[in-house]
Amino acid sequence: MTEKDLLFDTILARSFSKNEQKRLGYGAFIASLLFVFTLCTVFKPYLSPLPIVELQLSVDAGLRMLRITDQQKPEALISINNATSGDSEKLIVPTNQNNITSNENTQSLISSEDHDLSVCNDTSLPKNTTFSKEQVISDGDKMEEKMKPICTKLARTEFCELNGDVRIHGKSATVMAAITFAFSGNSTWRMRPYARKGDVAAMNRVREWTVKLAQNADQLENANFSRCVRNHSVPAMLFSLGGYSMNNFHDFTDIVIPLYMTARRFNGEVQFLVTNKHPSWVNKFKEIVSNLSNYEVIYIDEEDETHCFSSVTVGLNRHPEYFKELTIDPSNSEYSMSDFRKFLRDAYSLRNAAVATRQIRRRRPRILILSRSRSRAFVNAGEIAKAARRIGFKVVVAEANTGVASFAQIVNSCEVMLGVHGAGLTNMVFLPENAVVVQILPIGGFEWLAKTDFEDPSKGMNLRYLEYKIEAEESSLAKKYGRDHEIVRDPPAVVKRGWETFKSVYLVQQNVSVDINRFKPVLVKAFELLERQSV
Ligand SMILES: *[C@@H]1O[C@H](CO)[C@@H](O)[C@H](O)[C@H]1NC(C)=O
Ligand SMILES: *[C@@H]1O[C@H](CO)[C@@H](O)[C@H](O)[C@H]1NC(C)=O
Ligand SMILES: *[C@@H]1O[C@H](CO)[C@@H](O)[C@H](O)[C@H]1NC(C)=O
Ligand SMILES: *[C@@H]1O[C@H](CO)[C@@H](O)[C@H](O)[C@H]1NC(C)=O
Ligand SMILES: *[C@@H]1O[C@H](CO)[C@@H](O)[C@H](O)[C@H]1NC(C)=O
Ligand SMILES: *[C@@H]1O[C@H](CO)[C@@H](O)[C@H](O)[C@H]1NC(C)=O
Ligand SMILES: *[C@@H]1O[C@H](CO)[C@@H](O)[C@H](O)[C@H]1NC(C)=O
Ligand SMILES: *[C@@H]1O[C@H](CO)[C@@H](O)[C@H](O)[C@H]1NC(C)=O
Ligand SMILES: *[C@@H]1O[C@H](CO)[C@@H](O)[C@H](O)[C@H]1NC(C)=O
Repeated sequence: MTEKDLLFDTILARSFSKNEQKRLGYGAFIASLLFVFTLCTVFKPYLSPLPIVELQLSVDAGLRMLRITDQQKPEALISINNATSGDSEKLIVPTNQNNITSNENTQSLISSEDHDLSVCNDTSLPKNTTFSKEQVISDGDKMEEKMKPICTKLARTEFCELNGDVRIHGKSATVMAAITFAFSGNSTWRMRPYARKGDVAAMNRVREWTVKLAQNADQLENANFSRCVRNHSVPAMLFSLGGYSMNNFHDFTDIVIPLYMTARRFNGEVQFLVTNKHPSWVNKFKEIVSNLSNYEVIYIDEEDETHCFSSVTVGLNRHPEYFKELTIDPSNSEYSMSDFRKFLRDAYSLRNAAVATRQIRRRRPRILILSRSRSRAFVNAGEIAKAARRIGFKVVVAEANTGVASFAQIVNSCEVMLGVHGAGLTNMVFLPENAVVVQILPIGGFEWLAKTDFEDPSKGMNLRYLEYKIEAEESSLAKKYGRDHEIVRDPPAVVKRGWETFKSVYLVQQNVSVDINRFKPVLVKAFELLERQSV
């Protein structure tokens, strides 16, 4: 792609196909924000709380307590688990290990028959504190042996790593595993393999699976899992493409990053089993899917034949904290966010280098103005472009409605990305190191969302972050309703009426007309940040 192809001197009034509307539509995004937004009640007392959120808040408070009170002790986890989840939560504890010589009881799996418990009353097991221990192997050599839990619950996800004789029956959404060491307790675990646990709207769109543990293969036979019709020689990963898939923000934060964290270690030798079939998602991210797995995806839901594996992971890993989007906790993963960004650069053939001295000197730095054509659109993108050009930028205006690969190229060719709060900003993952992200906040109380969804993540990506909050006059709402209307004068009072109001007024009806004089210093600052980089 030549540089010229990427440049648009004027805003093109782009036609927006139905299909693209669907892909980029903020509908799903909005739905997801419902949950997060209502959490703003914590920080913004003027917002009225919604019932679902109050539940979440108490759970979250519980999680924090868990982390503080329960540093490294599995025993403590056990008591906290029955304390928080009631009697129905049973534990599965290995009682002796056939091939592992420790006789200490180690909690290996906490099982719940009640999926509501796992969705709403989760307890968190920070991975680095669970069940790793030193063991003495029988021949006398001292060896480090890691006892990994079979199923792990984190704040936003749960996943099971099953090894042994594992059989999967798609039609009944059942995974049966004969595991190799003894355990006692409840052996059934229900879960939804999508990494946004706690978000009811998302999780309702994810199929529930049952993981059943058996002590030996005979038990599998008795449960009608006798015949392995399809034997596979590589491990499998089972995950959902339901939830909020096809919203760019959620595609990355709920699926792509967790998938990378969980699958990369297999070096392609892993079979993906997809529940909630979604071929267009697989096509949208074909570069990523084909790098992570050397095999055609299997849509498992309709499979009536039993598929057999010697190793299966159900569900995806994710950052252990609740409000961490678009990021990886290195203590919870073999990989870091910079590994992930490097992986993206490989998968999409992007430039590797950080924003570099010579590049800047050789040509003017490029700024990408992310346009949106339905809501939260720039009314005066032309003026912004003009101001940016005067400061010394080359200007690219584009809307994130092309394929991922081609848009990744556009983003990656720029040093600055500027956009109004929205899923398009997720494309920051493709920016080169040290690039600058400028997020524009409309009126209506976007601060908390802006920070959680993009500001914090940008820092984890080694990007610089600038923010510009518009004044009432810069919102199209002022033109529409008049400066003195409550919507413009007192957004907190309006937002208080609830999510639907927030959505229909501030998310959907609002466009942004930036006051160039007020905004110019932000552009200058962005330019200076790049120059500073090049000294
Ligand atoms: C938790 O459950 C274990 C085993 O069922 C039991 O021994 C223990 O007393 C319980 N702890 C609490 C706090 O209920
Ligand atoms: C969550 O736990 C609390 C107390 O432990 C219980 O009262 C509540 O019913 C549980 N919620 C769900 C959805 O199970
Ligand atoms: C390990 O497990 C295998 C299969 O169950 C068994 O044949 C073997 O004897 C076990 N080894 C030890 C040391 O218990
Ligand atoms: C475990 O991880 C937490 C953060 O997730 C960290 O604060 C803590 O130091 C870690 N503990 C160990 C023993 O590594
Ligand atoms: C597992 O838990 C469910 C529901 O709590 C219960 O009905 C079932 O009997 C339990 N099974 C075992 C083996 O404890
Ligand atoms: C096994 O299959 C038979 C007939 O197909 C059915 O009657 C029986 O209930 C099944 N057993 C289990 C445990 O699913
Ligand atoms: C799959 O493997 C099992 C165990 O090795 C064997 O009994 C079965 O016949 C195999 N099934 C097929 C279809 O090859
Ligand atoms: C997948 O990505 C890795 C690391 O980014 C790279 O080394 C490898 O060559 C890629 N493999 C394929 C098949 O694209
Ligand atoms: C916002 O701008 C878009 C694109 O110019 C336009 O289609 C839409 O009607 C505008 N919305 C409002 C509420 O002004």
